Amino acid sequence: MNTDLGNYRKSYEKNELLLENAPENPMELFQKWFFEVDKFFPEIETNAMTISTYGQDGFPKNRVVLLKKFTYEGFIFYTNYNSEKGKAIKNNPNVCLSFFWHGAERQIIIKGKAKKIAENLSDGYFESRPRGSQLGAIVSNQSDILESRDALEQKLVALEKKYEGKEIPRPSFWGGFIVEPVEIEFWQGRPNRLHDRIRYSLTSDYDWSKNRLSP
Ligand SMILES: Cc1cc2nc3c(=O)[nH]c(=O)nc-3n(C[C@H](O)[C@H](O)[C@H](O)COP(=O)(O)O)c2cc1C
Repeated sequence: MNTDLGNYRKSYEKNELLLENAPENPMELFQKWFFEVDKFFPEIETNAMTISTYGQDGFPKNRVVLLKKFTYEGFIFYTNYNSEKGKAIKNNPNVCLSFFWHGAERQIIIKGKAKKIAENLSDGYFESRPRGSQLGAIVSNQSDILESRDALEQKLVALEKKYEGKEIPRPSFWGGFIVEPVEIEFWQGRPNRLHDRIRYSLTSDYDWSKNRLSP
């Protein structure tokens, strides 16, 4: 195979990002960008982000998860704590999140530390999920080798029977992580590859410095 993509090229012309207009706190810029994208591109999953972790095999690995909440403290997503990413985070909590909102020609890259959120918060979110998603979380030993799809579906049927008419408790192996950011970079595509990049770095518990980076 010899597939040349050299002519795949797009000019980015929709917006700009100026240092003087950027707020002091990057979470406020994140919130602004998030809701602008959500409003103008409702067909995409604005809250889909990649999270990359370092595995014990020495390789970084990215995968998509859904951002479920953000606050000044960080970014929360839910997963199986025994999954490949869960184990990688246990071994090395330094992770990287990224969003690419192509319609808006925007990218955000976040370096941070992942921590499990409090159990009562995971309980609260688990309770708010539809029953099918609750059972799906229990039934899947996420990232383990599965003998067949049938085996998974049979396990689901057995669980549906077990919990018929009953409340489904959150399994201890499933819950939220918060990624507390130490660096957040905002990228706005511009013409001629002269993109706008602003990087915020955490300087103390609450203070951020911001700089323009060369594209
Ligand atoms: C749009 C989208 C949303 C996803 N959301 C989640 C999520 O919120 N949590 C999760 O554990 N996996 C989610 N996944 C699946 C993950 O990408 C991944 O397959 C799974 O978490 C197992 O990853 P791991 O084996 O590296 O731990 C999502 C995948 C896609 C494409």
